[in-house]
Amino acid sequence: MNNAAILEIAKEAALRSAEILTHYFGNAGITEKSTQDLVTQADIEAEELIRQIILSAFPDHDFLGEESGASSSSQTALWVVDPLDGTNNYAHGIPQFSNSIAFVRDGVPEVGVVYDPLRNELFHAIRNGGAFLNDRPIHVSAATELKRSIISTGFYYDRGEMMSRTLAAIHRLFEDNIRGIRRFGSAALDLAWVACGRFEGFFEYQLSPWDYAAGSLLVQEAGGQCVDRNGRPLELNSGSMIASNGKIHPSLVNLVAWDRQ
Ligand code: IPD
Ligand code: CA
Ligand code: CA
Repeated sequence: MNNAAILEIAKEAALRSAEILTHYFGNAGITEKSTQDLVTQADIEAEELIRQIILSAFPDHDFLGEESGASSSSQTALWVVDPLDGTNNYAHGIPQFSNSIAFVRDGVPEVGVVYDPLRNELFHAIRNGGAFLNDRPIHVSAATELKRSIISTGFYYDRGEMMSRTLAAIHRLFEDNIRGIRRFGSAALDLAWVACGRFEGFFEYQLSPWDYAAGSLLVQEAGGQCVDRNGRPLELNSGSMIASNGKIHPSLVNLVAWDRQ
């Protein structure tokens, strides 16, 4: 089974399940996991469709989805899926969300797709095969200094240490005269935007594998770098992320690394 065949199924799952997202957008029935962590009918139906498309094509693969959990603990041939990344935006009618589908072999993302249905922007990457937006090659930005960088970030649903450390890191970035900070609310899309050069970097101290499995491959294949929140090599279960265009990497890691604080 080759990565090109896997990519075709990943794209099909991203495009078809996104029809469910656009169908419910503006009229999402919300369930609160907590007051910050929401789930909608769209998350659930979209994940179900993605799972069906993938497992009918590859019945012996494993599946890890945000809403349905893991079919096994194996990472030998594993699909890692967020059917709707940016649920808070979605539930509030804010037009910034995506889905994220990655195929992981032996713990390493091999194929990644992030789709933004409202802009009709489909990002994909294959390990050692480059990164693309609507099938055109993309590259990280050329900026070499933080003062010419826009960094995006995110806050997990935590209101304690995670929140205060994120705010402290933002403060340090501003002290360093960063050009801008953004919090747009879909980590998968934030990473896709690092890959295509709209953002120079991204960091978030707590994430789940489905938030970054596809996006981290996009960034790497577009020429950027991804590490965990301490600046160490990123793994599927790292649970955090600092990503950049590579050129600002040491300066960004120096200011935002969790264990410097
Ligand atoms: C969330 C988004 C958000 C990030 C959160 C994630 P969800 O995913 O990616 O940008 O800050 O940490 O949990 O809940 O919308 O799938
Ligand atoms: Ca998510
Ligand atoms: Ca989600």
